[in-house]
Amino acid sequence: MQRKFHRMNLADRRFRSLKPANCLFTLMVVCLILQAVVSVCSEKMYATEPAASATSFVSTDAKSKAEQTKKTMGVVAADCKKCHPSEVAAWMKTVHFQSPDERLYKFEGNTKKYATAMGLTSADLQGDSMCADCHGTKAVRDGKVKVISGVSCEKCHGAAGGEDGWLNRHQSYHENMPITRAEETPEHRAERLKFCDQAGMKRSSDIYGLSKSCFKCHIVGNEKLIAAGHKAASAFDFVSWTGGEVKHNFLVDKTKNADAPSLWMERTGGTAENRRRMKFVVGTLVQLETALRARANATNPAVIPQISGIIAAANGKLSQINAAAPTPEVQAVINLITPMFGTLFAPLPTDKETYTKAADEVAEQAKLFSRKYDGADFPKLDSVIKRYPPHYSQQFQDKYLNK
Ligand code: HEC
Ligand code: HEC
Ligand code: HEC
Ligand code: HEC
Repeated sequence: MQRKFHRMNLADRRFRSLKPANCLFTLMVVCLILQAVVSVCSEKMYATEPAASATSFVSTDAKSKAEQTKKTMGVVAADCKKCHPSEVAAWMKTVHFQSPDERLYKFEGNTKKYATAMGLTSADLQGDSMCADCHGTKAVRDGKVKVISGVSCEKCHGAAGGEDGWLNRHQSYHENMPITRAEETPEHRAERLKFCDQAGMKRSSDIYGLSKSCFKCHIVGNEKLIAAGHKAASAFDFVSWTGGEVKHNFLVDKTKNADAPSLWMERTGGTAENRRRMKFVVGTLVQLETALRARANATNPAVIPQISGIIAAANGKLSQINAAAPTPEVQAVINLITPMFGTLFAPLPTDKETYTKAADEVAEQAKLFSRKYDGADFPKLDSVIKRYPPHYSQQFQDKYLNK
């Protein structure tokens, strides 16, 4: 399988990375030092994987939506399918893939209702509309921003293109020799993965970043849209919602959809069980963080209760987590949020400041948690997680499961 990747690499010059040798050397030295520091500082860190690096936490968030759009290549243009055929096939069965057809291009029912309330026409929904931020993938084609597909790979894994994009480098095990994954030197791998993280790629090791991608869409911040009747949020859980319809862990074996990212398991020795525990806690913290940011911007007394409800629900889940697996990080977040309940449901002039500060603090604890633990210490979480089974949309069940 790996040989095949490489023959293709050589055949396709687009995927070659061009990095000056001197720059590479410096990077390698820096990487080695960093790796040493990391392995000394945190014994919990998996041995061969560089830290779910702090850099990836900042990269894409700081970049504007427009810049992300500019760097988005699209599944076809980037030819993800050439090397990830099973992932693409799995994606094409999801409502993510179908969303533009269902929600943007049929100007009827609730689509028409929400769009009209936002002052958008049928023609608007075909192009660069706010709806397409969540119901599709935008990219620049012929100098114009267009909807190029449903919610695609890069909406979750980060835009891949641009001069410093991750597409070329993420799959190149050597600068100019066709070698296998197993033959790549640890130094090269560390440098490659660091490059990808800095380029905004959200890899499997970055649970915080990946869950953040989901909540950007699955918690709706726009008050006007919510006031028009659009849901404020999905009944979302990061473990269950990545475990069903959306699951596509085929990297090591194209015929087997593993329970956790197969490449990540191979590289780190991590288990699906431990990963679920980490995803459950970090995902819930990110849910809370995102809802707090939406609450910071909310001013409409009719909408605030809906957003505050998400905060209350996430906080409740954290209490269950803390009862089964007590940690100082989750405790700190509960201590922070619980006293806020007195004013959570009422608009106040200082909301923006209060809730932004709280969100920043929750984000810090989430990152700390994801760096400090690997899930092995929390077996008691499993009985809580069991209450959130793999999730499938109704459409998916009708088409693929109930037959
Ligand atoms: C030329 C082949 C090729 C193409 C094209 C390609 N990939 Fe990959 N991809 C790979 C290989 C090989 C790996 C394994 C890399 C490794 O060992 O770290 C990989 C790994 C990944 C991973 C997992 C990384 C991790 O560390 O968890 C993601 C996510 C990914 N690719 C997404 C994409 C997306 C999205 C596209 C299209 C925009 C794409 N790839 C295009 C070959 C390719
Ligand atoms: C912040 C992201 C976001 C934005 C912006 C957004 N949506 Fe949605 N929309 C979602 C999500 C997520 C769902 C699925 C909710 C669920 O879990 O059921 C959804 C569901 C829907 C549905 C199906 C459920 C229903 O209420 O009938 C329609 C129709 C819809 N959106 C239309 C629109 C239109 C039209 C716009 C623009 C005016 C828009 N959306 C903007 C994220 C968004
Ligand atoms: C770009 C926005 C966006 C991102 C990012 C995103 N989603 Fe979605 N997701 C949607 C929208 C919109 C829908 C509803 C589609 C529709 O009904 O048209 C949806 C639907 C779903 C559904 C089906 C739910 C149902 O019951 O119908 C699942 C499962 C899901 N998303 C999981 C995830 C997970 C897990 C992540 C992160 C790893 C994620 N999504 C990231 C926009 C997004
Ligand atoms: C809705 C968000 C979302 C979309 C869309 C998405 N991914 Fe992923 N991807 C994830 C998440 C989350 C994981 C980690 C899954 C886990 O923890 O079980 C992942 C894992 C992966 C992996 C690692 C699998 C392994 O076995 O190691 C690859 C490769 C990958 N994705 C490629 C793709 C490609 C290619 C596409 C587009 C066809 C795509 N992804 C679309 C969210 C997404």
